[in-house]
Amino acid sequence: MSAPGPQPPARLLGPQTKGVTSVARVPDAWYVACMSSELRPGRVIGRDVLGLPLVLFRTKAGDVGALMDRCPHRNVPLSMGRVEQESLQCPYHGWRFSTDGACLEVPCLIGETDKKGRRADAFAVRERDGFVWIYATPGAEPTSEPYAIPCADDPRYTTVRQAVEAEGSLHAVAENALDVPHTAFLHKGLFRGNSEPNKIEVCVRNWGDRVEAEYLGEPRPEGIAGRILAPGVDAKVEHFDRFILPCVAQVEYRLGESHFLVTSCLTPLSDYRTRLFAAISFRLPLPGFLVKLVLAPFARWIFHQDQVILARQTENLRRFGGEQYVSTDVDALGQHIRQLLKRAERGQLETSEEPQIKRFEMLVG
Ligand code: FES
Ligand SMILES: [Fe+2]
Repeated sequence: MSAPGPQPPARLLGPQTKGVTSVARVPDAWYVACMSSELRPGRVIGRDVLGLPLVLFRTKAGDVGALMDRCPHRNVPLSMGRVEQESLQCPYHGWRFSTDGACLEVPCLIGETDKKGRRADAFAVRERDGFVWIYATPGAEPTSEPYAIPCADDPRYTTVRQAVEAEGSLHAVAENALDVPHTAFLHKGLFRGNSEPNKIEVCVRNWGDRVEAEYLGEPRPEGIAGRILAPGVDAKVEHFDRFILPCVAQVEYRLGESHFLVTSCLTPLSDYRTRLFAAISFRLPLPGFLVKLVLAPFARWIFHQDQVILARQTENLRRFGGEQYVSTDVDALGQHIRQLLKRAERGQLETSEEPQIKRFEMLVG
């Protein structure tokens, strides 16, 4: 037998990354399923949350139901059905279900209708701050309430709600929403990246179920964002980025009297597709309607740039079979978010009144 020939160099053997992923599934929690405005009375919509197909419907009286999108009878999608009286009716044989999944009618059947096996799996629902939240474990009694979005119902603020989707895990989308260094690069000119870099201090606080980065000494943002936030103001910027388990990414700016708060509720439709429901609240010197006019195309453009890069990042994670990330101090929150999500997935949260604190300096341009 002849001796084996020379082995090809490792780099020719294909991707070496195997199965490392920041995907974390946390089903015992609330996620936004849709905006309240999407669900008018009588409307039925199908949505995925954590890979589960759901049907959402609003009765004529205004109540919202969230059921598994599968008729218990012959498994037709209930999202093909329609609202009849105060219930959802399947389009195949006409079984009707209440908002809590009880079977109210089986056409042609004489006798009792609501038996255990005939019930549709139901999800707990709460409607608040302009969003419909569902508890992602069907049939479970929630052990918490949905996150209360600050400022969303405060009359002193203008609040804009938007829903957008990105090809990326909840972790990737949350990190992107809270990541400072990419703004000077990917969004150059729109956000940062126009001026000489300034040295600023960063304080990261981790409570075990949420983590926050405070940026101290940041100059007023240049570019369009700075002009919208505080035209002609030379005040000090207060800037916080927060991640709150399992799905809230929040960016807060204060500048003099101006206050700007973006709360993004991230819903994993599947492992690598995330829908972002944003409540953008602001109190600024310019009239709210004017800011809204300028802000909408500006936010769309910024998010489009993020969507493109997230899609390519996700595609590459798939090509290489997983993640092989290298981080530095300035990736202030990404690793914390990953760690919190992974602990929540394992049910091993360690929360504390006193946060763990890390400080460092970085350059922001
Ligand atoms: S499949 Fe729904 S009623 Fe038969
Ligand atoms: Fe971005």
